[in-house]
Amino acid sequence: MSSMWGERIRLSIFGGSHTQAIGVTIDGLPAGEPIDLEAIYEQMARRAPGQDATATARKEADMPRILCGYLNGVTTGAPLTAVIENTNQRSKDYEDLRVHPRPGHADYTAFVKYGGHNDVRGGGHFSGRLTAPLVFAGAVARQILARRGIKAASHVLSVGAVREEGFDPVCPEDALLERLSRAYFPVIDEAARGRMRAAIECARRDGDSVGGVVECIVTGLPAGAGEPMFDGAENLIASLVFGIPAVKGVEFGAGFGAAEMRGSGHNDPFYMDETGGVRTRTNHAGGILGGITTGMPLVFRAAFKPTPSIGIPQDTVTLPGGGSAKLTVTGRHDPCIVPRAAPVVEAAACVAVLELLARSGLLNG
Ligand SMILES: Cc1cc2nc3c(=O)[nH]c(=O)nc-3n(C[C@H](O)[C@H](O)[C@H](O)COP(=O)(O)O)c2cc1C
Repeated sequence: MSSMWGERIRLSIFGGSHTQAIGVTIDGLPAGEPIDLEAIYEQMARRAPGQDATATARKEADMPRILCGYLNGVTTGAPLTAVIENTNQRSKDYEDLRVHPRPGHADYTAFVKYGGHNDVRGGGHFSGRLTAPLVFAGAVARQILARRGIKAASHVLSVGAVREEGFDPVCPEDALLERLSRAYFPVIDEAARGRMRAAIECARRDGDSVGGVVECIVTGLPAGAGEPMFDGAENLIASLVFGIPAVKGVEFGAGFGAAEMRGSGHNDPFYMDETGGVRTRTNHAGGILGGITTGMPLVFRAAFKPTPSIGIPQDTVTLPGGGSAKLTVTGRHDPCIVPRAAPVVEAAACVAVLELLARSGLLNG
């Protein structure tokens, strides 16, 4: 399984939904970086399950235990490993799924690839639970970036057909980013949360699920980070964000909307600010040109599909070779992944940006 990522900041994420623990090793972190554990717990709590009716009822404290790589409040430079205990498994809910794969989940493809030896309990290594270690890594990266004036935030842009306004991609307010980066179910317009909750509740009552979009912004980036073609900022970010289960699309700046624009409307006009810095008046590029950061805010969106596990009876098959069958999924599931996924997308952005800066030699200082 390829659950390792990165060249300079190397992640290895391990475990499964119902194994004893899940965790992450982060190698390549600069030494002597102060890491505030409370700030890490705050980020973990934003993703933790069991907080409200829009999420799975499975309760997990998600308290990470650091095994190594951290001493006297700072990184040592050695690999930093953290584990998170799984304490609330109900494995019997999943016994049937080895032979009756859930439509939309990875049960079938994992069965084929691993010859039925994969851990199917709670989705095993394919579970959304594996995003907890990613949030840990992101919380570490976030603190290292913050010390260099770089901030990340995200919000739930849409749930189903319910949508709120997007970020100001040119000059987002620091106070807004600060609020969003600490919130559970972050939204720019607080009134939108209620409408989104209602859409999730409506799907849940029907035994169904709903998808949505998370928008993420990173500010304070220097211009000049990234490489052309295959090692660009977009490539790096997308490769991590596509590692988040249920992500089916990633777009930067104007994204797919750019296809409907003219060059005269899409091109971001340059100007020089009072300090001599080069800026753009609009930011359809999402802060990236030619794979290299422009110094404007980096803006991207991740589209999440509706949660595969739904309570409505569905068509499946009996593996191996047992013909067609009906499946009603039981167990505890998120009727909508998106509210809990927002801090995960933000974490992925922080890790990717740390890697981007390290590769471009811009991490020092
Ligand atoms: C935070 C989070 C929570 C998730 N919760 C569930 C869940 O409760 N039930 C479920 O079937 N899928 C859930 N998923 C999605 C599945 O893990 C994912 O759809 C599955 O592994 C198949 O991978 P793919 O959708 O990327 O193809 C969750 C994903 C995330 C990011």
